[in-house]
Amino acid sequence: MDDASRAVAKLTRERWEANAEYWVKVIRERRDRYRTELTDQAVLDAIGPCKGLRILDAGCGEGYLARALAAQGADVVGIDASQGLIDAAQDGPADEEPPGGPAGSVSFARASVDAMPVADQDFDLVVCNHLFSHLHDPSGAIHEFGRVLRSGGRLVILTLHPCFYIEDTEHGATGSVPAAQYFAARGVDQRFQVDGLESPSMITSWLRPLEFYSGTLRDAGFVIADLREPHPTAEQVENDPWWREGFPTAMFMLLVAERR
Ligand SMILES: C[S@@+](CC[C@H](N)C(=O)[O-])C[C@H]1O[C@@H](n2cnc3c(N)ncnc32)[C@H](O)[C@@H]1O
Repeated sequence: MDDASRAVAKLTRERWEANAEYWVKVIRERRDRYRTELTDQAVLDAIGPCKGLRILDAGCGEGYLARALAAQGADVVGIDASQGLIDAAQDGPADEEPPGGPAGSVSFARASVDAMPVADQDFDLVVCNHLFSHLHDPSGAIHEFGRVLRSGGRLVILTLHPCFYIEDTEHGATGSVPAAQYFAARGVDQRFQVDGLESPSMITSWLRPLEFYSGTLRDAGFVIADLREPHPTAEQVENDPWWREGFPTAMFMLLVAERR
């Protein structure tokens, strides 16, 4: 990592410490409809049955996804750069054990995803739920995921869609990205606005073109197995102005890559 990326990573960490309490509220009160009605299920569908899998939740935040996967019988390790969020994850509510089977396990540690205290080839699956747009240069993290996954293991990435995500406006957050900006690593500075709640700290979301992902994944020993674009159904768009006016197309993309 060069000096500029190190400085941005430090700033990102500080901003997330400032936003930790806000984030716990947004997630635990289920205030973010985009997740609860769309992307959470898309990520779970991409992961599929996970009983007995060893899973790394990279950039786990307050840990809701790690807990949900553990409740399905996975052994999950959550890693996040924010101490405030890791503290919240460690004190988090226990999800219900599914009927007819013992739950797996879940533990959390504070670390950066580009240098994790984890043995080589220790995991069957790495999931990055809303992480990548917070990494100024994700190349180091992608190589690190290649190191900790066993051969045949999967990397599941849900991140902002580089073609459609634009600066959040009163009228929504999807539109056409100007062609001249598409190939640059563009940063969008803004506070989160979720269900009327504004984050205390500004955050920069980084967007990169699709060829960044295909090239970096290939160089780190991955093969792309799937690309999905979770988007609202025609009924949601027709019947609900929240989807129709704010998010009629895909704001996120979901990549699944396999470690060779
Ligand atoms: C939008 S939040 C997503 C958190 C969680 N996955 C969720 O969906 O609620 C982005 C997370 O990335 C974490 N993060 C940012 N840079 C990181 C890094 N270099 N290493 C580990 N976590 C990082 C932040 O602390 C924050 O928890």
